[in-house]
Amino acid sequence: MKKSKTLVIIKPDALKNNIIGKIITTIENNKFKIINIKMLKLNHNDASNFYIEHKNKIFYDELINFMLSGYIIAIIVEGCNAIEKIRNIIGHTDFRKAKKGSIREMFSKSLTENTVHASDDINSFNREKKIIFG
Ligand code: CMP
Repeated sequence: MKKSKTLVIIKPDALKNNIIGKIITTIENNKFKIINIKMLKLNHNDASNFYIEHKNKIFYDELINFMLSGYIIAIIVEGCNAIEKIRNIIGHTDFRKAKKGSIREMFSKSLTENTVHASDDINSFNREKKIIFG
């Protein structure tokens, strides 16, 4: 199967809870290679652009405040069918619905503070990668 790439963001709750190693290990154990990695603090403009599709949602302000609350780690990962498989590995947005053994099922405690983000399609990947990595 052809290799492809996706973007994973490790969110501020994961850094606060000292689980970035576990998240990266889970990604690597699933045969994905980390080809770029960056630790950063988002500014308001970049966070708003990143989550522009959620601008009118009720959880938007809480989401932006959370994403600005600490450092994040952005990772470009490469492997077979990356976008679909990584979304499967991180699990459902709502940790209560995430399948057993998925990252969100194991580590998330709220709908907003859900530990990780991954691009949902190739267009999102290109757009999000540009915001984070330029
Ligand atoms: P993420 O995959 O980064 O994409 C949008 C984010 O909004 C999501 O993860 C959650 O952090 C956050 N969020 C908060 N509440 C909700 C909700 N009710 N539905 C979807 N996403 C939510």
